[in-house]
Amino acid sequence: MKTLLITGASTGFGRSLTEEALQRGHQVALAVRNPEAVADLVAKHPERALAIHFDLTKPADAFRAINETIEKFGAIDMLINNAGYGLLASLEETTDAQLERNLETNFTGPLRLIRAVIPVMREQKSGHIVNLSAIAAYANHAGFAVYGGAKAALDAACDAAAQDVAPYGIKFTSVVPGPFRTDFIGRSLEHSPRMPAYEATVGKFSAFLEKMNGRQPGDPDKAARAILDLLNAEKPPFRLLLGGYAYTMFAKKLASQEAEMKAWKEVGLPTDFPPGE
Ligand SMILES: NC(=O)c1ccc[n+]([C@@H]2O[C@H](COP(=O)([O-])OP(=O)(O)OC[C@H]3O[C@@H](n4cnc5c(N)ncnc54)[C@H](OP(=O)(O)O)[C@@H]3O)[C@@H](O)[C@H]2O)c1
Repeated sequence: MKTLLITGASTGFGRSLTEEALQRGHQVALAVRNPEAVADLVAKHPERALAIHFDLTKPADAFRAINETIEKFGAIDMLINNAGYGLLASLEETTDAQLERNLETNFTGPLRLIRAVIPVMREQKSGHIVNLSAIAAYANHAGFAVYGGAKAALDAACDAAAQDVAPYGIKFTSVVPGPFRTDFIGRSLEHSPRMPAYEATVGKFSAFLEKMNGRQPGDPDKAARAILDLLNAEKPPFRLLLGGYAYTMFAKKLASQEAEMKAWKEVGLPTDFPPGE
């Protein structure tokens, strides 16, 4: 039996992960803005499920969530930074308040939680930190500058943090989904009023998402099973792509990046001092 702390356990990936973890016999701290939304799960598993009032935009909530989990269960084997939301807007359409809240929710908030859990995992000499990233962090679309940027920033920060704490047995995995059938395109996707100038780019992507809503290819229950199987992996991956869309987009991006790197090598490579100087 392991102990997990899962943010955003109310719906979507978070609820699927929580239900699957409880079904597998694990202990779960459910960090949510509204504990009522998970009252059914806590009532069903009062010994192994703990609801914690948690908002990613409130800095004090990070240490409190870790402390409440330790008080109840005594350890944290896996932190799943799942909670987040999208912002669909060109940079020009994005307000300061939207920019700040999205970065706080998708980057700073998860980073604060990671910072708060590291001393616990370092003491335990084990632990696994899993972040719900997005394919937008690697192969982005018009309209997802802030959202994809925040997810990419978290992944880059964890690339370094994983090296900081590798000697203490702490592992990191960025889970990279394409479109999955959750509330994401609905209530978890904020829109800006569209300027006519962005109809052909952001508007086009927005229409694509609207059309896909309810028919996304990804199954969050299957994703939850794949993510929780990482608990048994001796060497979990730093990046786990989820679903066919993410695989296709990631592979295309890798190929185009390699081609561009080679095409411009003669320009960029000779900029070092001569060897020995
Ligand atoms: N579904 C996809 O296609 C997809 C693709 C790539 C990445 N993702 C990522 O997957 C993660 C989960 O999203 P989902 O698809 O499962 O959507 P979802 O069903 O809408 O779930 C979003 C969750 O995030 C929580 N949340 C939002 N802001 C929060 C805050 N400030 N503090 C605490 N919790 C907050 C929500 O809580 P409330 O119930 O209180 O609103 C909800 O539990 C997100 O990080 C998202 O970026 C999703």
